[in-house]
Amino acid sequence: MIIDQATTLRLMAAISGEGGLSPVATMPMTDAYRTGTRLAQTIAVASGKGGVGKSNVAVNVALELAALGHYVTLLDADMALANADVLLGLTPKYHLGHVLTGQRTLPEVEIEVTDRLRLIPGGSGVAELASLTLDQHSRLIAELRAIEVGSDYMIIDTAAGIAGNVIGILKAVAEAIIVTTPDPTALVDAYATIKLMHQAAPDTRIRIVVNDVVEVGDAERVFKQLRTTTARFLNRDIEHLGSIPHDAELIDAVREQRPVVEYAPETPASRALRQIARHLEISQTTRDKKRPASFWSVLTAADQ
Ligand SMILES: Nc1ncnc2c1ncn2[C@@H]1O[C@H](COP(=O)(O)OP(=O)(O)OP(=O)(O)O)[C@@H](O)[C@H]1O
Ligand SMILES: [Mg+2]
Repeated sequence: MIIDQATTLRLMAAISGEGGLSPVATMPMTDAYRTGTRLAQTIAVASGKGGVGKSNVAVNVALELAALGHYVTLLDADMALANADVLLGLTPKYHLGHVLTGQRTLPEVEIEVTDRLRLIPGGSGVAELASLTLDQHSRLIAELRAIEVGSDYMIIDTAAGIAGNVIGILKAVAEAIIVTTPDPTALVDAYATIKLMHQAAPDTRIRIVVNDVVEVGDAERVFKQLRTTTARFLNRDIEHLGSIPHDAELIDAVREQRPVVEYAPETPASRALRQIARHLEISQTTRDKKRPASFWSVLTAADQ
């Protein structure tokens, strides 16, 4: 039997009796989410190569956006290795799969992480979107749309690589953050993802985060390389959202199952993640005048 990293961490947490960030409550969220008329900005965090820092970016940026006063929903869409919950020190009982099978309602699955951030644990749910009956489909869309209407941001942590499901998600979002490291193999894989995204979803905004940067100047160099390649071969522009230094505190935070922005708020990685959240906030209010279609409608329609 293969024991994945998430299972190992859960086992270790259970054995050591240590928790991470404790949820405010595991009850349904406040009405603030449900009664709004906003349609969330949907942002997928993706990569080519695995282990480049997607989940850390998704979790910490989601927390920072919430700290800035936004209502944020974090959806863990990594089926193989759902780990946003692990990074938050949570062990959800239910996930989106239980909603699809009708065993649980969405509010029962959501976890309130802070008063403005909630997590929808992924599990195997998203994969099943493709095989829903018409009935299940409309019930689900109604439930999921409520999330979108009530949140300012929906941050989606995806699995590494470009499996069909990830492309489906990338087609449905307004924007994608592609995470890479300066490592040449990560860069090649990031380009492969951008290329596929470009073919499948030519209008989706693509922004790059260069993570785990050791040498000052590497981030800019890496971004320029990627930008030159996409401009030349895809005739497509990409943007630099930010860079995150290699930081031992982040590694410690992961071990402690706590988000680094909470574990060590002033460490360089936390500062960089905060800056990324601010950058997202500023650039979205000035740029995205046009509201995207409902993420869930597009996602499920694409999968039908
Ligand atoms: N800025 C950083 N400094 C130091 N270590 C880092 C940094 N970013 C990520 N790491 C290390 O990389 C590991 C993997 O990060 P993370 O789980 O966020 O990657 P991922 O892309 O989501 O992985 P997967 O593809 O498996 O979903 C972290 O546990 C941490 O040890
Ligand atoms: Mg991950």
